[in-house]
Amino acid sequence: MSNTLASIWASFNARTYLQEYYGDVGPENLAYLQFFARQFAALSPQATLLDFGSGPTIYSVISAVPKVERIVLSDYLAANREELTLWQRNDPQSFDWTPFVEAALAAEGLAPTPAAIAQRVAELQQKIVAIRFCDAALNQPLPGWAEPFDVLVSNSCADAATNDRTVWQQYLNNILTCLKPGGTLILSAVKGADFGDVNEALSESNPDSQYFPTVNIAETELQAALIAAGCATVAIETVAADRPTRKYQGLMMATARKAP
Ligand SMILES: C[S@@+](CC[C@H](N)C(=O)[O-])C[C@H]1O[C@@H](n2cnc3c(N)ncnc32)[C@H](O)[C@@H]1O
Repeated sequence: MSNTLASIWASFNARTYLQEYYGDVGPENLAYLQFFARQFAALSPQATLLDFGSGPTIYSVISAVPKVERIVLSDYLAANREELTLWQRNDPQSFDWTPFVEAALAAEGLAPTPAAIAQRVAELQQKIVAIRFCDAALNQPLPGWAEPFDVLVSNSCADAATNDRTVWQQYLNNILTCLKPGGTLILSAVKGADFGDVNEALSESNPDSQYFPTVNIAETELQAALIAAGCATVAIETVAADRPTRKYQGLMMATARKAP
């Protein structure tokens, strides 16, 4: 990773990020939760799932609980892994994902009673067997973990880790090595990102900047990149950005099967 990108990630503030993107369940996040609920409902029971580049978030694995036995979360930044650990331990300082668990249960067609929410939280906390360092730039992007996973989830990670299309493709290729042949990929990426120039973001000297060096892509590029990374079938659905402050057009949510 270049020094410039490293300095952007060094100034990443997990709490600011959580408040900005997960402070409420708006239409975008609801579409995400409904998408995950549908994908996991359609999945046969699986042993292992990796969320690659979880950030400080767990929203993408709430609906995985009924279908997978063991979940590994991962992120490049220690600050994000610490947020995940706080949440898993029920630390009073941890981020409150209750509205997301409630909406996820409703999306699954379940009554989101306080008891059902508490039970889903406890089951998810128990199924998370590890919170690991990952780096999409590495040939083995989950160091120290040799076994590929049955299901691979990755949201706005490779596309938000570089603004160079060639590097993005390499990151996707590396991330896909974590998935078994024939395994299921659930991956989202930002559509039409226009986050400005890297130097501009740095010159703002804003420690709370939510700038990421994001590639500017649409569905055609995502589909081609996933196939080039070894996916056999790819289906993409898109939800529009839900507020004018967003510097992207929408979120692309893809499901794919890795070629056997
Ligand atoms: C836009 S955030 C997405 C986080 C989360 N998946 C979500 O949906 O909110 C991008 C994430 O990529 C991580 N990241 C940055 N560079 C990375 C790299 N080289 N390898 C893996 N993850 C990276 C960051 O730490 C950050 O958590």
